[in-house]
Amino acid sequence: MVTGSGRGGIGRDIAVQLARLGGARVVVNVKKRQEDGKETLNMVLGYSDGILVQADVSRRDGGARTLVRETLDAFGQVHILVNNAGLGIGAPFLDADDALIDKMVSTNLMSAVYCSQEFARVMQPGGAA
Ligand SMILES: NC(=O)c1ccc[n+]([C@@H]2O[C@H](COP(=O)([O-])OP(=O)(O)OC[C@H]3O[C@@H](n4cnc5c(N)ncnc54)[C@H](OP(=O)(O)O)[C@@H]3O)[C@@H](O)[C@H]2O)c1
Repeated sequence: MVTGSGRGGIGRDIAVQLARLGGARVVVNVKKRQEDGKETLNMVLGYSDGILVQADVSRRDGGARTLVRETLDAFGQVHILVNNAGLGIGAPFLDADDALIDKMVSTNLMSAVYCSQEFARVMQPGGAA
């Protein structure tokens, strides 16, 4: 399971390399639109099995929990979670308003907390986040 892996960047590389080098079955995650992840999924499918799941991981309900449910529905188990989803700050520090600060914290910090908790509950012994 690699969060934020649909639109290129480090997440796509991790997803594809897990499939290519490790033969992992990979869950590709996009925040909003399924179309954004199709290219990554096709790259994964060139090496192994995979699915694409739309979920905003800055939320527990409808985000992290959706990923867990769809991962287990597809593969029945999970061994690896990569908390990759993140945002670069979009404003100078002193100009960041509360809405932007909330978005940064929920995306860069809370997504990892939500996903790590929700996946750790169902992960195989020896699994890793
Ligand atoms: N690149 C670097 O030099 C560097 C250095 C240190 C740390 N990092 C960290 O490494 C990670 C990947 O970096 P990157 O350069 O590959 O960044 P990136 O190209 O901006 O990719 C981030 C990915 O996260 C997704 N994402 C953002 N919010 C999300 C949410 N709420 N739910 C699901 N997916 C979400 C984005 O999707 P959308 O585009 O659809 O929003 C995007 O696919 C980030 O966490 C970043 O902070 C990067």
